[in-house]
Amino acid sequence: MCGIVGYIGNSQCFPILIKGLHRLEYRGYDSAGVAIIDAENQLKLCKSRGKVAELESFCQSKDVSGTIGIAHTRWATHGEPNDTNAHPHVSADGNIAIVHNGTIENYNVLKRALMKHGCEFKSETDTEVLVQLIQYIKQNNSCTLVEAVTESLGQVVGAYAIAVVDRNTPGTIIAARKSSPLVIGIGDDATYLASDATPIIDYTDKVVYLNDDEIAIIKKDEPLRVITTDNKPSNIDIQTLKLSVSQLEKGGYPHFMLKEIFEQPSTIEDSIRGRVVNNRIELSGVNLNRSKFVDAERIIIVACGTSWHAGLIGKRLMQDFARVPVSVEYASEFRYSNPVISSRDIVIAISQSGETADTLAAITLAKKMGAFVYGICNAVGSSIARATDSGTYIHVGPEIGVASTKAFTGQVTVLAMLALAIDPGTVEQLSKDIEALPSLIKETLKLNSTIENLSSTYTYVHNFLYLGRGYNYPSALEGALKLKEISYIHAEGYPAAEMKHGPIALIDHELPTVVIAPNDDLHDKIISNIQQVKARGGSVIAIVTKGDKAIKEIADHTLEIPKVAECLSPIIVSLPLQLLAYHIAIKKGCNVDMPRNLAKSVTVE
Ligand code: AGP
Ligand code: GLU
Repeated sequence: MCGIVGYIGNSQCFPILIKGLHRLEYRGYDSAGVAIIDAENQLKLCKSRGKVAELESFCQSKDVSGTIGIAHTRWATHGEPNDTNAHPHVSADGNIAIVHNGTIENYNVLKRALMKHGCEFKSETDTEVLVQLIQYIKQNNSCTLVEAVTESLGQVVGAYAIAVVDRNTPGTIIAARKSSPLVIGIGDDATYLASDATPIIDYTDKVVYLNDDEIAIIKKDEPLRVITTDNKPSNIDIQTLKLSVSQLEKGGYPHFMLKEIFEQPSTIEDSIRGRVVNNRIELSGVNLNRSKFVDAERIIIVACGTSWHAGLIGKRLMQDFARVPVSVEYASEFRYSNPVISSRDIVIAISQSGETADTLAAITLAKKMGAFVYGICNAVGSSIARATDSGTYIHVGPEIGVASTKAFTGQVTVLAMLALAIDPGTVEQLSKDIEALPSLIKETLKLNSTIENLSSTYTYVHNFLYLGRGYNYPSALEGALKLKEISYIHAEGYPAAEMKHGPIALIDHELPTVVIAPNDDLHDKIISNIQQVKARGGSVIAIVTKGDKAIKEIADHTLEIPKVAECLSPIIVSLPLQLLAYHIAIKKGCNVDMPRNLAKSVTVE
């Protein structure tokens, strides 16, 4: 589910492959490897558990010369992360090497059949089954590599992005995808391959996004050829990337996460740009499909993780402003829930990466059942952006830190604009409030040093509770997720009033509670919730509107945010929550950009 890089051209491929793997590190992985075909058609293989830097030093004493290569970062699904299970995997005859992202669901059946034919396996992975199958078919059918790959993929059930090289098929990389992304970069005298465009942008801005069930035949001195798995030629649609190398670098910050937190004044400006026009909200995706939105009986939002939290805020926004009934579903549950969907339903899929497997599957199901599917994505040209009927990009630029920050605020901003765009009236005050967001964000980020100091008090705590109400109940869930994913501190988010129905039993002097309490309709109620925590010896960090004396008197710490419209407050309150998680994780010595076990794009189930 993590990263693939490939190169074929006239330059030495090793440095290009390694640089590409570094670019993909943000996706999260546990081992890495390369396979290179040299001028004598020898296959050179290097792989190791751990980081790309470890692979690099492991390769220092090895001959890695050659101008054709494939490389991989693995996020283990079948078999523990170790040197043997790391990719590339090589066929038993030592000729064919494969890298694979995804899962082969029927690997056991295929493996048993191959073992009956005498095939021996080295690793525990599902991937090795595929390369052995390719070799078996190539040998038994005396066919070409591309025929053997096509035939093998026909036998495979599951998700894959693969790249294959073969000593006996010189000057060629075969790549294929199904439910796992692959992008091909077309350079002047070289072709590149990667899971996303980040390793390619250094060399070319011309790319082809491979579609599901397509196989690319990449040859050294021939134009790219793409066929479908049922052997029909595919159209090659060359697109121009709008991505710059500087967007992929840390720009002086110690971590991508901190850079992305501090980028938010400008990323929200980018999300809004051209969309607030004369006190109205103009979204082309809505304008082009207005009748669908006007006639919609129901909106169903599908997403995972942080995007799901943004969806919960979207539900409130859509209910309040568009007055449509909305439900919000985990995509992973929705896809197996036998949902009742009709052609009068709109399904909104939210995804930063645009590659989340569960969200993609939910989209496929919703489309099959006749719903109009609208995407809210960040990654331009991603699978979800292409699979949806229409949509709105959040345009916050590449998000590299595994913990989603600027994508979340971009998603909520777009959802607010979507809710207002559905009803095409003038929304003077709210348009102004949306336009004011970048400067409110800038002001709120001044809390950074206060939060950094505060984080020392809470570094060694084992549990945290986050409470919020109304628009900010999802903010509590998001604050808790941010803390747990990067600091490994257990944290739970709850609707504040729900605390008395169970979680209150946890409260004592060892359990800090973060209460999200800006001035809104439920302000008095949340003061009572704070009192309930204080009465049981709990400590409270409260996020409040500037000048809130009442809460300042009772909370242990208050973090003051500027006054903001209630419906946009989740955007502003998320900033201190992101900073709190960041500083606690840093004090604990955690790797905030690449937390353990996590992947940035979850392209497997
Ligand atoms: C966010 O901090 C998480 N890493 C994760 O929950 C993420 O939001 C989720 O996997 C969904 O990803 P997507 O937005 O790319 O679909
Ligand atoms: N399923 C394969 C494995 O466990 C590939 C995992 C990945 O996508 O990195 O090796």
